[in-house]
Amino acid sequence: MAQAKPTILVTGGAGYIGSHAVLALKQADYEVIILDNLSYGHQDLVENVLKVPLIVGDIGDRLLLDQIFQTYPIAAVMHFAAFIAVGESVQKPGMYYSNNVHGTLTLLEAMLAANVNQLVFSSTCAIYGEPQTLPIPEDHPQNPMSPYAASKAMVERILTDFDRAYGLKSVRFRYFNAAGAEPGGLLGEDHHPETHLIPLALHTALGKRESLSIFGTDYNTEDGTCLRDYIHVVDLAAAHVLGLEYLLNGGESEVFNLGNGNGFSVRQVIETARQVTGCEIKAIECDRRPGDTPILVGSSDKARTLLNWNPLYPDVETIIRHAWQWHQSRHGIGNQE
Ligand SMILES: NC(=O)c1ccc[n+]([C@@H]2O[C@H](COP(=O)([O-])OP(=O)(O)OC[C@H]3O[C@@H](n4cnc5c(N)ncnc54)[C@H](O)[C@@H]3O)[C@@H](O)[C@H]2O)c1
Repeated sequence: MAQAKPTILVTGGAGYIGSHAVLALKQADYEVIILDNLSYGHQDLVENVLKVPLIVGDIGDRLLLDQIFQTYPIAAVMHFAAFIAVGESVQKPGMYYSNNVHGTLTLLEAMLAANVNQLVFSSTCAIYGEPQTLPIPEDHPQNPMSPYAASKAMVERILTDFDRAYGLKSVRFRYFNAAGAEPGGLLGEDHHPETHLIPLALHTALGKRESLSIFGTDYNTEDGTCLRDYIHVVDLAAAHVLGLEYLLNGGESEVFNLGNGNGFSVRQVIETARQVTGCEIKAIECDRRPGDTPILVGSSDKARTLLNWNPLYPDVETIIRHAWQWHQSRHGIGNQE
């Protein structure tokens, strides 16, 4: 008889990337428990699509964490819960350090107390700052330029120290730009407020906003706009299952970039969104935004080699098509979410 797969606690599993990871874990036959305070997550998607237990609570609540670890036979944790808006983090740094760093520290302490020693962590390419080499490798110097990015770099440092001191093993994934949606239209991106380019373009196509802004058209790139590395959320989710299995098989702590290694400009993304949707999508050219890096493209060779990770949907047209299917079903005419 096949052995039952372990139980995984997924923090932030009601959010965008976490929900896709929960689906991937379920498809790989893992038992999953979600812990999410629903500050940004979507209870309806957990109940109607994911159908796994949802504990509504906070990663900073030590008593609750102790209860969860006592109640469920949790083998490892996937930790997505965080605040994610770069601009807001500049306005409210305390809120970001409190949730992303202090909250994570509370989670790690509870894990150690429960003898749970394996963690997959959502980090970000934003910790590199202005790239000195392209594509950016994992050993590129770090220069986080916002409290959000700094909060992720701090957690990475804490994880290094916790491995050395307590043997807590982690896989840290530094995502480039997460985008796209579950290809069947079941799950997708639904941030409030939305700050990411692809959903903003699709909201404009749906008439939910009048236009979107292109910040900076005089960068030293082919068409003058910023280049980003877009990675399909389903490919991110698959990497999380591989990272988890790497740890469950006794792997040492590692850090991996997750991207496609191709840069697409803001204009290219908007143009592709116009083709996919058949809509005009009004774009307004604006000044550069402080802190934006002209080109952010990563090398994910390490994840490909060590985890055997092979992105299924590397082209931006497919990423936008899947996102469009989702946005139409979630926000289309007649759907007031
Ligand atoms: N979206 C991207 O492009 C991107 C890029 C790099 C890294 N990341 C990281 O990936 C992770 C997931 O991002 P996302 O885009 O899915 O964001 P999201 O906001 O959709 O999901 C985060 C989830 O965490 C929950 N949450 C926040 N604070 C919590 C707390 N204290 N306790 C319990 N739950 C809490 C929210 O309710 C939400 O459901 C984050 O850690 C983010 O920093 C995202």
